[in-house]
Amino acid sequence: MLVDGPSERPALCFLLLAVAMSFFGSALSIDETRAHLLLKEKMMRLGGRLVLNTKEELANERLMTLKIAEMKEAMRTLIFPPSMHFFQAKHLIERSQVFNILRMMPKGAALHLHDIGIVTMDWLVRNVTYRPHCHICFTPRGIMQFRFAHPTPRPSEKCSKWILLEDYRKRVQNVTEFDDSLLRNFTLVTQHPEVIYTNQNVVWSKFETIFFTISGLIHYAPVFRDYVFRSMQEFYEDNVLYMEIRARLLPVSPALLSVPPTSFALA
Ligand SMILES: *[C@@H]1O[C@H](CO)[C@@H](O)[C@H](O)[C@H]1NC(C)=O
Ligand SMILES: *[C@@H]1O[C@H](CO)[C@@H](O)[C@H](O)[C@H]1NC(C)=O
Ligand SMILES: *[C@@H]1O[C@H](CO)[C@@H](O)[C@H](O)[C@H]1NC(C)=O
Repeated sequence: MLVDGPSERPALCFLLLAVAMSFFGSALSIDETRAHLLLKEKMMRLGGRLVLNTKEELANERLMTLKIAEMKEAMRTLIFPPSMHFFQAKHLIERSQVFNILRMMPKGAALHLHDIGIVTMDWLVRNVTYRPHCHICFTPRGIMQFRFAHPTPRPSEKCSKWILLEDYRKRVQNVTEFDDSLLRNFTLVTQHPEVIYTNQNVVWSKFETIFFTISGLIHYAPVFRDYVFRSMQEFYEDNVLYMEIRARLLPVSPALLSVPPTSFALA
């Protein structure tokens, strides 16, 4: 701006004052600055610059309504899954409407999945251990092992007698109870984790035992094929868009055929 005469002075002074005032004013409004800073920070979050369309706004509103309702309910009952051990919270989480909506929503990637721990263990119990030629035995330390074989494998020092599971189930008093015990052998889940797992080594040891136990079920060609398929299906149902599987590619025993060995062929 060019100012060339004394007559312009008052106008200039006024302008300077106005600028100074507005500067002073904005510096004074701490609340505004704070709000602005918070907004800027919010926009730095993942998806912070995403602008929702009308439908998305509506969906978000509904989701938030459910979330607030669940939080209010938790404050009333004092049952708040995020504050609990996962084993105790899991069944509550699965009942949560918010969780079930999140479950349907697309996820990015599931990384670092070990090939031997990616399926619902319930499926191993209810499906795989019911397949023909599945044998069970117990090591001297009482750890169970499985093997698909025909005929029944010979006993060794490493394991008690191999028993066909079909026969074993006929002998147990309560099959449901037995299957539940298998599931307890296949997972870390327990009612009282803080009592059972007193330190890291105890958990780690059980963790490794599980893999030792289930590997005989998984590393059998017909099961392995279904296992991989089923795993992908489960991740697909959780709307996971990408899986990264870490496989050791351990040997997989070939399919057994329930036909005489002369016409034996590998599937
Ligand atoms: C096990 O699963 C396979 C496919 O994954 C299916 O064909 C079969 O019928 C199931 N068997 C049992 C006993 O559920
Ligand atoms: C078998 O065990 C299950 C689970 O523990 C139990 O619910 C069921 O009543 C038992 N059945 C019999 C016949 O005892
Ligand atoms: C594993 O299974 C065996 C046989 O059914 C059972 O005696 C044992 O209690 C189970 N282990 C656990 C940790 O439940």
